[in-house]
Amino acid sequence: MRVAPFLPVILIASLNVAVAGDEVAAKCLECHDPEDSLSLAGEGVDYIVEGMNMIRSGEIRHPESLEGLSDEDLKAIAAVLDGGG
Ligand code: HEC
Repeated sequence: MRVAPFLPVILIASLNVAVAGDEVAAKCLECHDPEDSLSLAGEGVDYIVEGMNMIRSGEIRHPESLEGLSDEDLKAIAAVLDGGG
């Protein structure tokens, strides 16, 4: 409940950083929804970015490719996933 007021702030912040990243984040939430067992909400942006870096470089297998996304995109998407979308 206490997190709710901050969600719009996180969304607006990520939109400012990269609109493309925000569109991708919507796709990520199809699997990493806060209600889902794969939720990344509350894991922390640094942790999520680290995992995304490994996915982008092909170090770990993942159903969704992150190829072509910039570091800014990764941060913006991580902020959305960490905040629970
Ligand atoms: C089709 C479903 C699906 C979609 C869409 C999806 N993921 Fe995943 N993701 C998974 C699965 C499955 C795992 C592996 C979970 C495990 O093995 O613990 C995973 C793992 C991850 C991890 C590693 C988490 C960890 O435990 O360190 C990250 C980070 C991640 N996904 C980010 C993303 C991002 C960013 C997107 C959007 C571009 C995305 N995922 C879209 C299914 C999905």
